[in-house]
Amino acid sequence: MSVAVAFPEQAQLEPRLVLTTGLGHLYQGDCLDLMKSMDDDSVDLIFADPPFNLGKIYGSHYDDSRAEEDYVAWSREWIHEGARLLSPGGAFFLYNIPRWNILNGAYMTEIGLTFRHWIAIDIKFGLPIPGRLYPSHYSMLYFTKGKPRSFTRPRVPIPVCRHCGGDLKDYGGHRDKLNPEGLNLTDVWNDIPPVRHRTTKNRSANELSEKLLERVLTIASQEGDRVLDPFGGSGTTYAVSERMHRHWTGVEMGDVEPIISRLTGQEHTVDGPSRGDAGKGPHRVRLPRRGSNQEVLFVDFGGARAN
Ligand SMILES: C[S@@+](CC[C@H](N)C(=O)[O-])C[C@H]1O[C@@H](n2cnc3c(N)ncnc32)[C@H](O)[C@@H]1O
Repeated sequence: MSVAVAFPEQAQLEPRLVLTTGLGHLYQGDCLDLMKSMDDDSVDLIFADPPFNLGKIYGSHYDDSRAEEDYVAWSREWIHEGARLLSPGGAFFLYNIPRWNILNGAYMTEIGLTFRHWIAIDIKFGLPIPGRLYPSHYSMLYFTKGKPRSFTRPRVPIPVCRHCGGDLKDYGGHRDKLNPEGLNLTDVWNDIPPVRHRTTKNRSANELSEKLLERVLTIASQEGDRVLDPFGGSGTTYAVSERMHRHWTGVEMGDVEPIISRLTGQEHTVDGPSRGDAGKGPHRVRLPRRGSNQEVLFVDFGGARAN
């Protein structure tokens, strides 16, 4: 399969190991190169949150405005590698906008993966698109390689009104029959917060909530399993894998410092926002170590996660 490479100078970089922890390895480089060097059936869960080809600025290493056919061909290439790397029964989660995931899902089916769910993740502060319905969810595909090896269905708290504390639904008069441990999780997730607060953000944009990754890892993996995330970003998947005692392999083509700082608990800096986050232009800001009382010089770029 041929793929147009917009930034060949970067794509030629061999992935280099930049961090090792007791559980994981982080590489800097192109995920495709790393994935091609890995063995068949060597990971139990893949979580992928690629750029959405919406013209965001990720730095000079990545062009986020590709021709549609190039983006789709590139996506197919790394999805294909991912499917090869998955162990039997392993799970593949792919987070993207519906426009791309409808194509990605069709391709995953075509190459023999098993569809489990299209999970709709509510967008808290989406932006309107002229001439379209108001986009209100991200899509997360959940496929497995054959019969799932691990599946745990989490329970979620019974939703209540945040003003009066009363139930939001009447449960057909059977409220007393509900499991006190909570409701069964559905495929519509309304409770994933955007990462907005300055003290919890590890970089300016595109960082997912740890709650999302905790849920994904809970549903489809067990302690000691190996997780692969080919699009490191700020390292959310790796941080959660560490906490949940999963082995992990990570790779990021751009700046890996936010990930290293996050995983080693150091103070970190955050580069400017991607275009579209708030349109305020780049700032260099300094964040304190989590939990410290240090004064913060910070520009809150405001937007919800929108790749
Ligand atoms: C949407 S962000 C991921 C954010 C991440 N899920 C988080 O919570 O922080 C996508 C990342 O993929 C990186 N990227 C793009 N192309 C890549 C490639 N071919 N190999 C590795 N990383 C790549 C971008 O630099 C960007 O940091």
